[in-house]
Amino acid sequence: MKIIGTGSELPKKIVTNDMLSEFLDTSDAWIYPRTGIRQRHVISDEKLEDLAISAAKKALDNAGIQAEDLDYIICSNVVNEYITPSLSCIIQGGIGATCPCLDINCACAGFIYALDVADSHFKSGKVKNVLIVCAEEPSRMTSWKDRNVCVLFGDGAGAAVVSEGEGVKGIKLSAASSTDKLYQIRTLEPTPYITKEEHSESLQMKGQDVFKFAVKASSGDIKYLLDTLGMSADEVDHYLLHQANIRIINSIKDFLGQPEDKFPTNVENHGNSSSASCPILLDECNRKGLLKKGDILALSAFGAGFISGAAIIEW
Ligand code: COA
Repeated sequence: MKIIGTGSELPKKIVTNDMLSEFLDTSDAWIYPRTGIRQRHVISDEKLEDLAISAAKKALDNAGIQAEDLDYIICSNVVNEYITPSLSCIIQGGIGATCPCLDINCACAGFIYALDVADSHFKSGKVKNVLIVCAEEPSRMTSWKDRNVCVLFGDGAGAAVVSEGEGVKGIKLSAASSTDKLYQIRTLEPTPYITKEEHSESLQMKGQDVFKFAVKASSGDIKYLLDTLGMSADEVDHYLLHQANIRIINSIKDFLGQPEDKFPTNVENHGNSSSASCPILLDECNRKGLLKKGDILALSAFGAGFISGAAIIEW
């Protein structure tokens, strides 16, 4: 399979580090050097499904195909206002498609996992065109009183259309259960029979543990793929990494021994938009004309679970 179109959509509200310091004990002087984040887009009056539908329509337009040409829609999402129906079903209706659809929750690694699901469908000969949409609103998972967590995230949607072709050279997925390092829990509707104790907690994170996992997993996934494909890190033209923290990106860059200009970033403007991060970055690079036909891309993402994934793609 190959990627034939990309799209993205961001909420219009921009929250700068200085705006956060008006109600939180934090500052640009703390946030920027530790994360590389200057601002993030945050949902206000928009609905996530509308951002997802807009990103999907832009990707279809960029691919030059119609919604009715789609054989499958995969949506990566951790939370949105609906428990059910799935976000992919809402997107299907919004773009006027009629194909089957599926939601996956693979946290920030969702785009790579979605590529892998799509790849399996292509290999089984079931599909010709698949729409992947990653839509996330982590700003609704964090406590806006918790400076440790809320400053890191932003909302948005990124989409890609994949079609028959030879673009994807390899995908590596990993998972290593570690559920106390990055999690959010919430209570469900009460019943007359619940006797266990339950409570809700906003997104909780052991930042330094997540940082170490991220660098190790992402470096390991990319190295595994390069070795398996008999490629060197030098042969990759663009490393499109999950935009969680510029220091994580720089550590992976140093591990790979590659120059900074191969690592486009948008973490300074968007913060960490979970699984939407990779496809938003891909779309921005695509629309800027940075990606030339035949370029080799390495995508890599990591997140709660812990899970991680990487893909090597020829553009
Ligand atoms: N503003 C000001 N001070 C803050 C702060 C903020 N927004 N957030 C935390 N602090 C404080 C802490 O309370 C702590 O204070 P203390 O020493 O008095 O206890 C101090 O800053 C240092 O905190 P620490 O956690 O040691 O900082 P750090 O250098 O590890 O950086 C992260 C914190 C979160 C930026 C970093 O660990 C990180 O990026 N981790 C990965 C997170 C991530 O990517 N998550 C998503 C993965 S998908």
